[in-house]
Amino acid sequence: MNITVFGTGYVGLVTGTCLADVGHDVVCMDVDEAKIDGLKRGEIPIYEPGLESMVLRNVEAGRLNFTTDARQAVEHGTLQFIAVGTPPDEDGSADLKYVLAVAGTIGEFMDGYKVIIDKSTVPVGTADRVTTRIAEVLNERGAMHDFDVCSNPEFLKEGAALEDFTRGARIVVGTDSEKVRECMHECYAPYNRNHEKLMFMDVRAAELTKYAANAMLATKISFMNEISNLAERLGADIEEVRRGIGSDPRIGYHFIYPGCGYGGSCFPKDVQALARTASQVGYDAELLQAVEAVNKRQKVTLFEKLSRAFDGDLAGKTIAVWGLAFKPNTDDMRDAPSRTLMEALWAAGAKVQAYDPEAMKECRRIYGERDDLVLVADNVQAVKGADALVICTEWKEFRTLDGEWLKAQLGFPVVVDGRNLFEPAAMKAAGLMYYAVGRGDSMLAAREAS
Ligand code: UDX
Repeated sequence: MNITVFGTGYVGLVTGTCLADVGHDVVCMDVDEAKIDGLKRGEIPIYEPGLESMVLRNVEAGRLNFTTDARQAVEHGTLQFIAVGTPPDEDGSADLKYVLAVAGTIGEFMDGYKVIIDKSTVPVGTADRVTTRIAEVLNERGAMHDFDVCSNPEFLKEGAALEDFTRGARIVVGTDSEKVRECMHECYAPYNRNHEKLMFMDVRAAELTKYAANAMLATKISFMNEISNLAERLGADIEEVRRGIGSDPRIGYHFIYPGCGYGGSCFPKDVQALARTASQVGYDAELLQAVEAVNKRQKVTLFEKLSRAFDGDLAGKTIAVWGLAFKPNTDDMRDAPSRTLMEALWAAGAKVQAYDPEAMKECRRIYGERDDLVLVADNVQAVKGADALVICTEWKEFRTLDGEWLKAQLGFPVVVDGRNLFEPAAMKAAGLMYYAVGRGDSMLAAREAS
């Protein structure tokens, strides 16, 4: 099929590339000329395992092309995916200006029947607004072309996006048109071989499904973080509690890992946007607001624990930070807990000595050169001469640690672990004061040691 994808950000680039990889003829369009020029030269603007080689082989095969030419893009595809950004505006609502601009462009150059597919995460009701916008522009042109707008939300995890696209649990399509059903069946047929993954539903249900999925996952995390804060105060170990509740199939083991708070481009934005949508229709979404509030508070706990260990005096201290990305296998630092920590440390007069396998360039881009931010070549360098260590991201390479060696490196034997990577007893035996998340033991041990 001839397919056009608007937006070469994370979602657009993964969608376009995966669809080309199964044989579709794909044009990816972006208004950012530098980005498109880079992509034409094979430069991939994001870090995603496997993406670069997939882009290159499909460009080579002539199935994947990049353009800034809107007319060419619209004329190319029967399917027109909209995968542009929906940043939060001041009140947390998703800003639809880019989505509606693409709708206008499609209306302007449409030359026959098109299926317009909302791929970006957009508030319920957006498909109707896209329909209205396209119809307005067609009307201005005096053109009479048939079109349908459907919703086909993505469920991609950063770091596993190709796997999620090609082997995802379901493909949700919101439409009431038989023609769209046929087109979407054809588009996704290569991914739909072993069992039926396509789920057709009403367009508003599809739009809400995306928000509900992310809000549910965020709720699980905030719930566990809340219980872990309780466990700390009660002297219980959340890791035992996690196993204890996960064994109930109604609860399950997935996504109940306590930590230093969720970050990234989706959960914070989508929970806020859904709460905002709720208030717009006169509903006070108390649970969603609490999920967000608990997460904000959780991100501050790394600093609070550290500050407590230093009796509130962090001025002049050097703190090693392992992990800057919001999770492993990505260079993304959007809403990352590391940022809350580093900003609090700087405000308290401390210096950060950090290492991340992928996100250091991104860290420099965000914070620039500054005396109180030293980025080092590996995690060993990060603790050299540091007063304490904080772990923000559970990269695999951080998982093996010689506690005694670490104790010898640190000015004070303090480790704050936002990802529960180690056993509190082993850390205590090595002479470290180990503050994990919700591990009552580690807190009690820390109290005894102090
Ligand atoms: C998420 C959804 O998983 C995906 O389906 C959706 O399309 C986009 O948002 P992503 O943001 O890439 O994907 O990250 P994910 O792997 O889901 O992790 C999100 C955050 O939750 C991370 O900060 C992670 O550290 C945290 N997390 C996850 C926990 O703290 N505990 C857990 O048990 C799981």
